[in-house]
Amino acid sequence: MSYLTGVGGLYLDGTVGGGGHSQALLERCRDCRVLAVDRDPEALGAARSRLRPFEGRIMFGQMSFRHAANDRRVRAEGLAGALLDLGVSSHQLDADERGFSFRRGTILDMRMDPDASLTAAAFLASAPRDEILRALRDGQAPRPAVLAARIVGRRADRPFRTSDDLVAVLESVLGRRAAHAEKARLFQALRIRVNGEIEALKAALPAIRDALLPGAVFVVISYHSVEDGVVKRAFREWSDPSHGLPRRLPVRAAELESRGTVLTRKPVTPGRTEAESNPRARAARLRAWRRAA
Ligand SMILES: C[S@@+](CC[C@H](N)C(=O)[O-])C[C@H]1O[C@@H](n2cnc3c(N)ncnc32)[C@H](O)[C@@H]1O
Repeated sequence: MSYLTGVGGLYLDGTVGGGGHSQALLERCRDCRVLAVDRDPEALGAARSRLRPFEGRIMFGQMSFRHAANDRRVRAEGLAGALLDLGVSSHQLDADERGFSFRRGTILDMRMDPDASLTAAAFLASAPRDEILRALRDGQAPRPAVLAARIVGRRADRPFRTSDDLVAVLESVLGRRAAHAEKARLFQALRIRVNGEIEALKAALPAIRDALLPGAVFVVISYHSVEDGVVKRAFREWSDPSHGLPRRLPVRAAELESRGTVLTRKPVTPGRTEAESNPRARAARLRAWRRAA
């Protein structure tokens, strides 16, 4: 967060969750205002009460961050900085009725936006095998091809309803003692697909970049290597437009204008103390980029 140094102006918190990051920013910078966005109305409710002391400097919007750059306030003023802290919150994972976790008996829902039509159970019931396979592969679930085939075989008998149904399929592939990490990767892959998380990120990155004012910083925290790869490539391409172009192209690198600078050559990861006190933060990878002044 120290990358968002608190130059006054309008900031976007595209994933406000419980409001911790917005609070830190508003406390540090008196001239900062925050547009706090989340797809999840429950998260917005929690953030609203936590951030009440900052009334007048905080505005809320229930939407996907992929649309945040279209907000009229952002278009009118431009952004002094932006943050995306991707994935699910601890609150969402802990609330069994939201269906994100593989704790026993959890309904397979996984929608961040409860008004969205596709639940995890509906995806497993109706998606063609290839689509399930792609979701499992993209999300780095274990043994994706065998798992996809077993899912399709099993749903012909009985629809998937709870976490137990999906864990049983995983155990039929990996054995009864499928590890915690393997269950987590399967459930995470499904969640990423159900919420269209990679598509949202790919659409949001250039839109938010273009809304940044000169010199403004864009921070993204990811928890999955696929998301982190998307962010890393985008930041690198924006900074070095010749990156990845064929060597013999009839343009010199200097003729292609850089849009800004990567501030984190390597992703910033949590220190030992933070990882110990908050195990969910262990996978966090923070990258920051500054728009050219
Ligand atoms: C890791 S939590 C954020 C925690 C937050 N930074 C805090 O300080 O409490 C991620 C949040 O992002 C939200 N989210 C994920 N994808 C989103 C999207 N495409 N648009 C808006 N919100 C999204 C989730 O609903 C969740 O509340």
